[in-house]
Amino acid sequence: MLLLHLSDVDEAAWAKAFAEKLAPYKVVRRGDDFDPAEIHYIFVWKPQPDAFDGLVNLKAVLSLGAGVDALMKHPGLPDVPVVRFVDQDLSQQMSDYVVAHVTMHHRQFTRFNADQKARLWDQYYPPVAQQTCVGIMGMGVLGQDAVERLLPLGFTLRSWSRTPKQIEGVTGFAGDEQFDAFLSGTDILVNLLPLTPETAGILNYQTFSKLRRDRLPGGPAIVNAARGGHQKEADIVRALGDGTLGAASLDVFEIEPLPETSPLWGIENCYITPHIAGISNEATGVNYFSRILLDHEAGKDLVNVVDRQRGY
Ligand code: NAP
Ligand code: GLV
Repeated sequence: MLLLHLSDVDEAAWAKAFAEKLAPYKVVRRGDDFDPAEIHYIFVWKPQPDAFDGLVNLKAVLSLGAGVDALMKHPGLPDVPVVRFVDQDLSQQMSDYVVAHVTMHHRQFTRFNADQKARLWDQYYPPVAQQTCVGIMGMGVLGQDAVERLLPLGFTLRSWSRTPKQIEGVTGFAGDEQFDAFLSGTDILVNLLPLTPETAGILNYQTFSKLRRDRLPGGPAIVNAARGGHQKEADIVRALGDGTLGAASLDVFEIEPLPETSPLWGIENCYITPHIAGISNEATGVNYFSRILLDHEAGKDLVNVVDRQRGY
């Protein structure tokens, strides 16, 4: 039996779609009449503290999100495989966000927007894409998709990951020892890392001050599409104010929803979106997880299983 436990998304719609796809395999929601011992799979997003109580025969946890940081911290998470969402539609949405914000900063949107407000005709010509280096932190599913979409636009690309990567057209850096070298040639820093104890707070003032300063005249920019826990918002406010950063695009925040009192709301060169860069699609999600569940029931291995030791 599959149990759905979703917060902040339309659980009923997902349950209906799963029931249709998996029938006669049984699908239930919280509040339905079922024996927890009969639940073999649980599909979760933002699970409540008691989400896993009584699920003594669980075979796997299926995560609606690509990011599993919150799930990894759940005190009741059972010792069974956690399968995360990997999906072309989600990757496309995330890359759409990255491409939009990278090109915006590359073409000096902040500067021309300010000029327009001042009714100022100042013919500054932005550098061509090849002269602008986009540094992507995280070279997994989403980082590699972003590369595929940014490369044809002509940007110079570099990546930073935990283990070394060889990707055509991308200069790869890996590990803490190569982090500063990676930053020193980066004009637009894109974050697509998972949130783990090692990556928490990585978008801080020290990091910003190591970015390349002589290419984009407005100063280097950051684009955070991963998790709010990666960024120190007080440091972003400071860096945007003193010119260490020229602009910041933030889709995620330390506290979500972003409190009304946050100074970020009022900063002109800070571009805020409410964690909408990518959202798991119901149709592709139901197909993906149903296939995994049925294959597993037929004796096949689970795919895209989170490494509990690494935390992603
Ligand atoms: P992924 O496939 O697991 O890739 C993670 C990448 O980060 C890997 O390249 C990994 O290096 C690297 N990495 C991990 N820890 C590192 C460290 N300490 N130092 C350097 N590199 C490190 O993850 P993904 O599918 O691309 O997703 C990335 C994140 O995007 C998710 O975790 C989630 O938080 C976020 N996300 C956000 C939204 C949104 O709407 N804003 C939507 C979906 C996902 P190795 O390759 O060497 O292992
Ligand atoms: C969304 O933030 C996800 O992790 O899929």
